[in-house]
Amino acid sequence: MSDYIKAAINEKILSLTIDRADKKNALDLAMYQALADAVESANDDQNIRVILIKGSGDSFCSGNDIKDFLKNPPVDDSSPVLQFVRAMIAAEKPIVAAVNGIAVGIGVTMLLHCDLVYAAEDSRFQMPFVNIGLCPEAGSTHILPALMGHQKASELLLLGKMFDVDTAIDVGIVNEKVKSAELEQTAKDVVLKIAAQPPAATRTTKRLLRAAMHEQIQTAAARENQSFIPMLDGAECKEALTAFMEKRPADFSKF
Ligand code: COA
Repeated sequence: MSDYIKAAINEKILSLTIDRADKKNALDLAMYQALADAVESANDDQNIRVILIKGSGDSFCSGNDIKDFLKNPPVDDSSPVLQFVRAMIAAEKPIVAAVNGIAVGIGVTMLLHCDLVYAAEDSRFQMPFVNIGLCPEAGSTHILPALMGHQKASELLLLGKMFDVDTAIDVGIVNEKVKSAELEQTAKDVVLKIAAQPPAATRTTKRLLRAAMHEQIQTAAARENQSFIPMLDGAECKEALTAFMEKRPADFSKF
């Protein structure tokens, strides 16, 4: 387990809180492992009917810990990052996300594997994979064009710009914009409702809704990893990550 992931089961709801507010809830290896284990074990736990993922402080999740990208990059399928992605893709119980602020990188792509997403009105989203010399992950190169079309997916990925909650709703990543003060209650009402629904029908419906895309998402994720892992060791990424740590703009002019 990680001190930065708080897990609690109440009223048949597994609540997972990313609790590293001082780093905008960036995920390190231990946090990925804790999330992967929790999501995976929910499949066979009769006490859990729905999973709620949220962030502490003013952020949902600022993506992979940049220091960890340099120190402990994923090298193969056993990496906690990839275990977490696999657990999200294979999750059998509905996953609800409450986005309470910034969501970056995997902070956005994990939402593509959630079933219902509620976001505070001041939430901001960004998939800056290209900006940091990487390619997208978590099957997002399949899911994003399927959700919003090639041009819009290209805009969000190639330009890697921040977008607001209205755009996130327009492109199908978020269900509903909620006042910040009401986000927790809104998410709670939703998970309580799901937990009170007939569990087998709920699971079957989730499985069927995801079935047509399931194999394609797995294939896309595997294809992405073949590029992502070597790119993490590449000069473009090293420049971007070092620049972030040194709090300076990255310089890609020499590549
Ligand atoms: N990994 C490690 N540390 C991170 C982080 C990350 N992904 N995101 C934020 N932090 C840290 C910052 O280094 C800073 O630490 P410090 O106080 O020790 O200097 C702290 O969290 C606050 O971040 P800051 O950049 O000051 O907050 P902000 O509100 O100005 O910006 C972000 C927030 C998320 C937009 C910005 O931090 C950012 O772009 N982070 C990197 C996101 C990223 O590229 N993730 C990987 C995607 S694949």
